[in-house]
Amino acid sequence: MSKTVNGFSKLSKFEKIEWLVSNFFNSNAQVEQTLKQYWNSNEILQNLHDDFIENTISNYYLPFAIAPNFIINGTPYTIPMVIEESSVVAAASLVAKFWSTRGGFKTKVISTTKIGQVHFMYEGNKSELINYFNSKKKNFYKVTDGITKNMRKRGGGILDIELRDKTAELENYYQLHITFETADSMGANFINSCLEAIAIEFENDAIQIVMSILSNYVPECLVHAEVSCKVDDLYAENSELFAQKFVQAVQIANAEPHRAVTHNKGIMNGVDAVVIATGNDFRAIEAGAHAFASSSGKYKSLTNVTIENGIFKFWIEIPLALGTVGGLTSLHPLSKLSLSLLGNPSARELMQIIAVAGLAQNFAALRALTTIGIQKGHMKMHLTNIIKQLGASDEEKHFLINYFENKTVTHNAVVEAYQNMKN
Ligand code: MEV
Repeated sequence: MSKTVNGFSKLSKFEKIEWLVSNFFNSNAQVEQTLKQYWNSNEILQNLHDDFIENTISNYYLPFAIAPNFIINGTPYTIPMVIEESSVVAAASLVAKFWSTRGGFKTKVISTTKIGQVHFMYEGNKSELINYFNSKKKNFYKVTDGITKNMRKRGGGILDIELRDKTAELENYYQLHITFETADSMGANFINSCLEAIAIEFENDAIQIVMSILSNYVPECLVHAEVSCKVDDLYAENSELFAQKFVQAVQIANAEPHRAVTHNKGIMNGVDAVVIATGNDFRAIEAGAHAFASSSGKYKSLTNVTIENGIFKFWIEIPLALGTVGGLTSLHPLSKLSLSLLGNPSARELMQIIAVAGLAQNFAALRALTTIGIQKGHMKMHLTNIIKQLGASDEEKHFLINYFENKTVTHNAVVEAYQNMKN
């Protein structure tokens, strides 16, 4: 028995499970069974998933759902979403329907460039460094020629290479700050390969390369999505008051970072769900979005709202570095299916769709929060989950949903009502 192991990655999947179950679960056969019940019976498909990462022992399911009725720049979309949070897809669908009769979503891409950096230390004379950089600059394009060839054919490549003096922030620290266009690919491998080739070309006895890596801060890979309508068309009862409270909710997020974080978290509920469904990197998107939300020096809302001349306008601007080719997008069958459902969009189109998903979630959250509160909708979903856990029949389910129409849902209350109904 040992809770540490050497050469684990070389063991077979069966051996890995055996080691895990015997060392951490007292050889409990149920654990092995739980892991194995999520294996796909299609061996080819399972092998595909096994190979995405190291040490795979099972699959972890998340629901794959769709939210229909999104009208974006006049085109209808059904948006795929992968998320575990019960209310997100319901909210997306409701809001999509709501705006579909009010002109839909309007979107535009503002910019699409990405950044990579070669970070290095240099103690010598700055003007000598500048001369050296200028003498090498052409070579940077030459040494990356093989890597950028295909990308250039697709309209991408290296756009600019700058030498930046960062010594005010950190002694002897400089960087090559390189701007890329990566067309329809997210471009992480492309950017990092270019950076490493440039770093080798640049390094000399006086220049100590520390690291070469893309930045997930992409304020120049920015997309805008908006909705607008007459204030009068916004809400059934007292539209003016609703609009006013909605504006105040956004103002509060801009004034108060504690609220802004939750406000933006709600946006990311929509964004991440589509990012995951389309095989993109949600950690990169999250990091970039939150950094952008703080770009003024204070963490603020990613959305904004105005009421002018009786028109309510609500919009988001969010950096989204996405790919629709390469990486998982073309490997995972469900990512492929998601992209196909969206009409095989370019990266620019996908940026617009995902910004809409984020804006829709924020609209749903603020609408609920400033009116009936968030718990009513959440608890409705929670109620269905509890009913399911209890194993209620369709008839019993119907009864319980009606029963809780105007009552507070708690786990205990539902169990009690279920038992009373049975007796
Ligand atoms: C929950 O996942 C997201 C919300 O908290 C977002 C918000 O408060 O704006 C409802």
